[in-house]
Amino acid sequence: MIKLGIIGDPIEHSLSPALHTWVLTHLGIAGEYRAYRVRPHQLPSFLETARELVGFNVTIPHKERIIPLLDDLDPLARLLGAVNTVVNRAGKLVGYNTDYVGFVRSLEPHLPPRRAVLLGAGGAARAASHALLRTYTVSLTIVNRSRDRARQLLCELQRHYPDRTLSVARDDTVLEALSESDLIVNATPAAMPVALPERLSPRTLVYDLNYNPRQSLFLREAERRGAHTKNGLDMLIYQAIASLKVWLRQPDLPIDYEQLKRFLEGML
Ligand SMILES: NC(=O)c1ccc[n+]([C@@H]2O[C@H](COP(=O)([O-])OP(=O)(O)OC[C@H]3O[C@@H](n4cnc5c(N)ncnc54)[C@H](OP(=O)(O)O)[C@@H]3O)[C@@H](O)[C@H]2O)c1
Repeated sequence: MIKLGIIGDPIEHSLSPALHTWVLTHLGIAGEYRAYRVRPHQLPSFLETARELVGFNVTIPHKERIIPLLDDLDPLARLLGAVNTVVNRAGKLVGYNTDYVGFVRSLEPHLPPRRAVLLGAGGAARAASHALLRTYTVSLTIVNRSRDRARQLLCELQRHYPDRTLSVARDDTVLEALSESDLIVNATPAAMPVALPERLSPRTLVYDLNYNPRQSLFLREAERRGAHTKNGLDMLIYQAIASLKVWLRQPDLPIDYEQLKRFLEGML
């Protein structure tokens, strides 16, 4: 019986328990995957008890703050500065990042972006920004509630990708950046993280990493302004499968993606 789970706060909205329970059942693996509401001050004590788990996912607001509490980090998680997957290797907690691959795979069916705006500068934004800059020849503008955190992410990205056009939007340049972009990613939990321009191009993809509700206010408003839209369900599924591969130490898992997606859509 393998014990898995997810920690976060809030955590009630997460489809991860349903997703992983469905996959474990379909793979014929005896196991459980539970949601644990862990507030920031409870994180150190949770990690003591977490050693009875095979592994767990990490979501808002812990993806960055968990790093100094872990025993080791996979090189990608170290590069991104964000962990969404922890595996217990003989009592040592090792951090991985599967948001990165989830984000990359979820964008594959879409046109390569050339100018992107990223809303947020937390764990998911870190994975998405590196994924965009490593996968595409794209320029990137960061918009975040706290400008210091945006600037910190910008400095790190400038170090890793010195040949790219990277910036943090000022209040008076946000609308222009949004109007000129062909990809807008919401990597915050906010329903409406930024005011959108009056019109958006039909070539612009507005991508909300949130998936519950299926169509957020942000996606509704973007669609009304002419953009096409995408929610975070594909990313959720791809990052979850990648996490399971880490926990089970299996490079391939026979999972029927479409059947799983239909199951999850039925829950939204
Ligand atoms: N579909 C998927 O598979 C997937 C994967 C990862 C994440 N997500 C979603 O992405 C979102 C971000 O997750 P995370 O792990 O990156 O969280 P995080 O590390 O805690 O970062 C949160 C980010 O959102 C910003 N923020 C928080 N509340 C806000 C508000 N009320 N208005 C505007 N900005 C706000 C924060 O800005 P400050 O810096 O100013 O605090 C920060 O940039 C979550 O909703 C999560 O569920 C989805």
